[in-house]
Amino acid sequence: MFVVSLSCDPGIGRAVAAEAGWRYCEAVRKVFPDGERYVRIPEDCSLKGERAVVVQSMYPNQDSMMVEALLAADALKGVTGLEPIAVVPYLAYARQDRVFLSGEAVSVRAVLRALHSAGYGGLVVLDVHKEDSLKHFRGTSVNVLPVNTLAKALKGVVERPLVISPDKGAARRAEALSRALGTEYRIVEKFRDRFTGEIRHRFAPMPEIRGRDVIVVDDIVSTGGTMASVVSFLREQGARKVFVAVSHGPLTKKALARLMDAGVTKIFSMATTCYRLEHPLITYLKPVGEVLQAIKEVLGTG
Ligand code: R5P
Repeated sequence: MFVVSLSCDPGIGRAVAAEAGWRYCEAVRKVFPDGERYVRIPEDCSLKGERAVVVQSMYPNQDSMMVEALLAADALKGVTGLEPIAVVPYLAYARQDRVFLSGEAVSVRAVLRALHSAGYGGLVVLDVHKEDSLKHFRGTSVNVLPVNTLAKALKGVVERPLVISPDKGAARRAEALSRALGTEYRIVEKFRDRFTGEIRHRFAPMPEIRGRDVIVVDDIVSTGGTMASVVSFLREQGARKVFVAVSHGPLTKKALARLMDAGVTKIFSMATTCYRLEHPLITYLKPVGEVLQAIKEVLGTG
């Protein structure tokens, strides 16, 4: 086995290779003057008959990072004769997972089909927006919910914790995290206007959170609108501290400012993207053990 990093590996490839005792190398990448991408696997990196794990996240420069991943699959299949496994810490286009307005693409389906057609036989994704989307990848796939890494970081920091899911879709994460922390979880109801993208929450009073530490868990903080709305509500309800626990983000400075205005205490995020805001309120974590376990599951050895 060997691990190959492309242009957007947020430090996961080298760490996984070290943990597993696999070889590690970086692919040669360049951009032609017209903007097209080029990928080459160095001779001393790959061996015929040896399986490759390619690590490539897809934020920022989603489209270019996707194309690099496709080129790498083609190159690796050529030199090793085997289908590589893709580890994608942040899968772009995952939130358009169905047709909301007629005439739209199911973007996640198009992306997953392309990865498989390019040559990837296996796929590990970190907290894909909807796990069900992975059915569009025709090889073996595993979605990593980095619950153990989050729970480890939160234990000892939170007192009398209660986990909150900002919508029904995130309930599985909230349930898993609350179990790992030995506590309960609640769901708040969210609506999104499909034309304006505006988020509205419907909050019922939650007297049980007064004086407690709450953890809002979601897959992503993008613009921060969803999370800021929930954090403000929890503060109004008398939460002692409000922690945000996400797999991806916050992706913009504006998102961080919104969360700070809303009264967030601390943000824990996985290091899944190549652009990361550095701020004392944010701690980035690498779920190396969970990713390695998922690769083994794809290989059928986990
Ligand atoms: C939506 O269903 C997702 O789980 C996130 O809650 C949402 O995408 C976050 O986006 P934003 O930060 O822009 O509100």
